[in-house]
Amino acid sequence: MMHGVKKVGVAGAGQMGGGIALVAASSGLETVVFDAHGPAIEKCRALHDKLLARNVEKGRMNQADADGAKGRVKFVESPEGLKGSDIIIEAIVEDAQIKKELFPKLAAQLSGNGILASNTSSISITDLATSVPEHAARFIGMHFFNPVPVMKLVEVINGLATSTETTERVLALSEAMGKTAHAANDRPGFVSNRVLMPMINEAFYAWMEGVAEPEDIDEIMKLGCAFPMGPLRLADFIGLDTCVKIMDVLAEGLNNPRYRACPLLKQLVTAGRLGDKTGRGVYEYGK
Ligand code: 3HC
Repeated sequence: MMHGVKKVGVAGAGQMGGGIALVAASSGLETVVFDAHGPAIEKCRALHDKLLARNVEKGRMNQADADGAKGRVKFVESPEGLKGSDIIIEAIVEDAQIKKELFPKLAAQLSGNGILASNTSSISITDLATSVPEHAARFIGMHFFNPVPVMKLVEVINGLATSTETTERVLALSEAMGKTAHAANDRPGFVSNRVLMPMINEAFYAWMEGVAEPEDIDEIMKLGCAFPMGPLRLADFIGLDTCVKIMDVLAEGLNNPRYRACPLLKQLVTAGRLGDKTGRGVYEYGK
């Protein structure tokens, strides 16, 4: 099936939204990014310039294609600027209430058969869709991975009411954006975080119990399992607060204490050691 998307709207110009917008524009789609916060837009624009220049320098793109991609991204500071989008991909803060307040405003901007997608990493798609009941069949999860321009996967999440047509269109769109897409159903953590987060959590238990030091745990998993980063380094990269939140979703949604966040992981979050974004998590990062 064809995706039928000419214009992609993205809500949120942060790390994920910015990456999604760049990937969409680089694959030839007209792209509009909405963020109410001006400085976030400036930061996103600068990141796009840097990544496009890097692509040209590395010979992955010629200058004309980089200029074309840049020219296809427009930034707007109100949801109305997304008018006429064939799909809007939401990538704002991971807070169900804030997302649910935004979705009706996004739905009002969609073209006739337009799709609403959320890049949530673990909030229920079925729950988010209740904020726009008339759009539930055209509501879906489109879970990208950080860093978006590098990571190949889109995990496509079907809510309870998502139509087969919507799923097929989003799978086709993800592939047209140069990604590989796989569908999963709306259960806590979907597939990626259902499997990844308990592994990361277990690495914190191993550290807490003195099985090995963090560097050893990470090198064992990197070299022994061919991971690009060890689980503790990856936790810093994702954000330890995000890891706790996702474990909480698993523990509550699957109603099983084996998914409880490791006390040491929680303690680092309490201390403000959130990972790369605060300069210190499991490891300390230079300025
Ligand atoms: N944006 C764009 N490109 C980036 C980037 C970013 N933020 N960070 C790194 N890259 C690019 C670099 O430019 C470089 O490409 P180039 O040199 O050819 O231009 C390439 O990626 C490799 O980067 P580096 O040489 O600096 O470093 P590494 O080889 O160590 O790679 C990494 C960095 C790509 C982050 C790699 O370590 C990796 O794949 N790590 C695992 C990432 C991962 O698992 N992500 C998923 C997290 S889970 C998630 O997102 C889901 C959520 O729900 C929790």
